[in-house]
Amino acid sequence: MRQGYDYISEIKRMRSEKNAVILAHYYQTGDIQDLADFVGDSLALSQKAASTDADIILFAGVRFMAETAKILAPDKKVLLPDMNAGCSLADSCKAKDFKKFIKENPGRTVVTYVNTTAEIKALSDIICTSSNAVDIVNSLPKDEKIIFAPDRNLGNYVLNKTGRDIKIWNGTCHVHEEFSLEAILKLKDEFPDAKIIVHPECELPVRMVADFIGSTAALLKYTGNDNGKCYIVATEPGIIYQMKKNNPDKTYLPAPPRDSTCGCSECSFMKLITVQKIYYCLKNEKPEIKIRKDILDTARKPIDRMLEISGKFGPQK
Ligand code: 13P
Ligand code: SF4
Repeated sequence: MRQGYDYISEIKRMRSEKNAVILAHYYQTGDIQDLADFVGDSLALSQKAASTDADIILFAGVRFMAETAKILAPDKKVLLPDMNAGCSLADSCKAKDFKKFIKENPGRTVVTYVNTTAEIKALSDIICTSSNAVDIVNSLPKDEKIIFAPDRNLGNYVLNKTGRDIKIWNGTCHVHEEFSLEAILKLKDEFPDAKIIVHPECELPVRMVADFIGSTAALLKYTGNDNGKCYIVATEPGIIYQMKKNNPDKTYLPAPPRDSTCGCSECSFMKLITVQKIYYCLKNEKPEIKIRKDILDTARKPIDRMLEISGKFGPQK
């Protein structure tokens, strides 16, 4: 890191020189969200990647998101500033084990959350995100039997919402599993007017006390439209930056994790991306996402199917 160097201005200069676009997820730090051309949830980011006319997509997010961008825009150079920016949920579903799971549960349509590797997507019939998981499952014929992977909490949420026959893969996200119901209720005692808003990757007891459940984009929209003044936010706290930006008069309290000393409600993978790494990544045009052609082609079909159902460039839910 060069002391006093204006990384932000240099990134902006290179971005226009190279016709690059910076896409950032809501879990990135505020400085990166401000620098990005577009900030969104995983659905909106994949829609953006599919429609951009930039030559380079620099992804400020985690690897599965950058891979999705590459699958949707195979002719573009897709860069991820740190290849270690993985995802504990994607890691919980390995292709070898998933193939076995599909074989053990034959005749089921495979609905897979976007938080997976390209290889897992290539084994799927249709992809979903937390924004559209319920709609995607509801779009299938009523008697269709389903496999849902990899998040067991989102799978359970979708099952409860749709009443469908769903076999759920036993995966979890290390961030959303960490929220403590007890500590959330204690916080609610201190702030009785606060509304509890929850990402569907959280465990059932936390979802049960929610005033609202939704993807990061849906939570953001809710805090904008709702007439409340205070929110306990049970998802990665990066989203609070946008909430404050959009509605600075309201109060946003991060939901506490079980271990109050660990800061583990932050996604350690998302936070691997820094402004300095974005600078070097854009300068050197690496690390670059590469996906085997056969996997890329096969993985594209279930993502296209999702985008079609979601209304490809339609309004964000
Ligand atoms: P969103 O679909 O809300 O962007 O969530 C992505 C994610 O990684 C949640 O942990
Ligand atoms: Fe993966 Fe969880 Fe981080 Fe989202 S918050 S990227 S699901 S580890």
